[in-house]
Amino acid sequence: MYQYNYKDQAIVDQRVIQFRDQTTRYLNGEIAEDKYRALRLMNGVYVQTHAPLLRIAGPYGLLSSKQVRKLASIARDYDKGFCHFTTRQNIQFNWPALERVPDILEELASVQMHAIQTSGNCLRNTTSDQLAGVCKDEIEDPRPYCEIIRQWTILHPEFAYLPRKFKIAVSGAEQDRAATQFHDIGLHLVKNDQGEVGFKVFVGGGLGRTPIIGQVIRPFLEKKHLLSYLEAIVRIYNLYGRRDNKYRARIKILVREAGLAEVTQKVEAEWEIIKDKLQLSATDISDMRAQFNPPAYQTDASQDTSYAEKLASDSDFATWIKHNTAEHKVDGYVAAYISLKAPDSPPGDCSDTQLDAIADLADQYSFGLVRVTHRQNLVLADIKQADLFELWQKLSALALATPNINKATDMICCPGLDYCALANAGSIGVAKEINEQLDSLDYIHDLGEVKINISGCMNGCAHQSVGHIGILGVDKKGVEWYQITLGGSSENDAAIGSRLGPAVSKEDISGVVKTILEVYVDQRNNEDETFLAAVRRLGVSPFKEKVYATH
Ligand code: HEM
Ligand code: SF4
Repeated sequence: MYQYNYKDQAIVDQRVIQFRDQTTRYLNGEIAEDKYRALRLMNGVYVQTHAPLLRIAGPYGLLSSKQVRKLASIARDYDKGFCHFTTRQNIQFNWPALERVPDILEELASVQMHAIQTSGNCLRNTTSDQLAGVCKDEIEDPRPYCEIIRQWTILHPEFAYLPRKFKIAVSGAEQDRAATQFHDIGLHLVKNDQGEVGFKVFVGGGLGRTPIIGQVIRPFLEKKHLLSYLEAIVRIYNLYGRRDNKYRARIKILVREAGLAEVTQKVEAEWEIIKDKLQLSATDISDMRAQFNPPAYQTDASQDTSYAEKLASDSDFATWIKHNTAEHKVDGYVAAYISLKAPDSPPGDCSDTQLDAIADLADQYSFGLVRVTHRQNLVLADIKQADLFELWQKLSALALATPNINKATDMICCPGLDYCALANAGSIGVAKEINEQLDSLDYIHDLGEVKINISGCMNGCAHQSVGHIGILGVDKKGVEWYQITLGGSSENDAAIGSRLGPAVSKEDISGVVKTILEVYVDQRNNEDETFLAAVRRLGVSPFKEKVYATH
């Protein structure tokens, strides 16, 4: 894992001092509300329904056990005993007192964390694949490039006031687990015909009220040009992105309005001017790769026989292994998901006791590292197969082993009306009701992979437009209603879901989801046909007919 050097540390330490001073002056009435608003947003502080909301950056989703322990103590000492993991691998606290935020930031700085550029119209936290460095389908580990990008984005003097926020995601594997086609810039590590590894660059993707799939602006970019190409894209966006209308200000709208050809031509022209001055040297890249060297894996880990015995003798353990683990590139190791989707807890929430325990488990079993997924779960990426049974027992005792990864109850959910001032409707309550409707694990497992995403308004923080089932809260004369879409995906087969029909009422929403799933079970070709494949084959009609006939 990358460790801060003195420059990184100086940036976060000085920011704490600066923000403490700004907050004190604001609280003393020396800075006006609107001026302070801009300052607090630069430090991840939103003001929400009940309290300020603090968003902390989780660089490409990688956290050390020490950082996780710090989140636990902040949850305990400054919040209501929990934090929330977001779809961009960040961490949110929903209840801090504004006057104590500088203290929280000081605590975070002591473990190389911060909230800089987690809100506002700037370059945001770069996200990546939670299985980076360990998955079998990887072309190259994306994390060194994410860190190079992090350093480039932080306090970039030219890009502090972009037309709107700007998000970058990087994937190094065949399978896109980082929703890269729905980012302002998506980067895929790919191999060209000569066997060289470089980047395929997507631009103009995004979710929110106008979901758009990113398009390829450059099929192959040599690694040494990574930063100059990013710089050229963001420059063109900064120059031509619309500042007259915030709903049209994202780069996706620029690409749509001007056309990919024109944006590409402008970017390439800009790039020609700067490309030689901003090259990454082979040493820059190899030094950064050294920060992400594989840990000291045991070479004989696959010799163990206890794992196979436990798998054969304990069916609950075998179920968890089947649903909550992923293959590892090293024999005898496995990546284990920690589900933050227990039926009775809001998706993505984690308590201080759970956080402390997760930090201990990471130290004991997974080289002290934890990863955050963009579906609001966590991963311990390097578990020896001989340790899996013990790990599962401990996770079960903490309510962190619900075997539902990528299943119908592994929902993405935004804070909705419970916390968010922009919300039209509740989302956490809907997730809870759906959980109650689908209370049989066997049924959920039989449904296979189903991704349900619930947002409380069209800003789309929970990616509803790319959910296999997307649920969007809408306000009809002060009453909460929900619009449903089917067939979205944020993976390689990126697609935006199609509208099912008129919005349904709050009372009906969980029953409607149940009906949709029943239609799938009735009409699938066989158990191998996934929900998404069935929706694509059948279209929305059979779902629509049944839903509006019964609700
Ligand atoms: C309660 C505090 C929150 C507020 C006020 C808020 C506000 C917003 C707004 C206004 C947008 C639309 C921006 C645009 O399209 O330009 C947005 C988008 C987004 N938010 Fe949030 N959000 C909040 C919490 C969250 C949470 C908890 C998550 C993760 C679960 C999240 C993840 C996202 C994502 C992924 C987008 C994506 C749209 C895109 O950029 O393509 N936000 N948010
Ligand atoms: S989708 Fe809307 S309701 Fe949900 S967190 Fe985002 S802005 Fe708030």
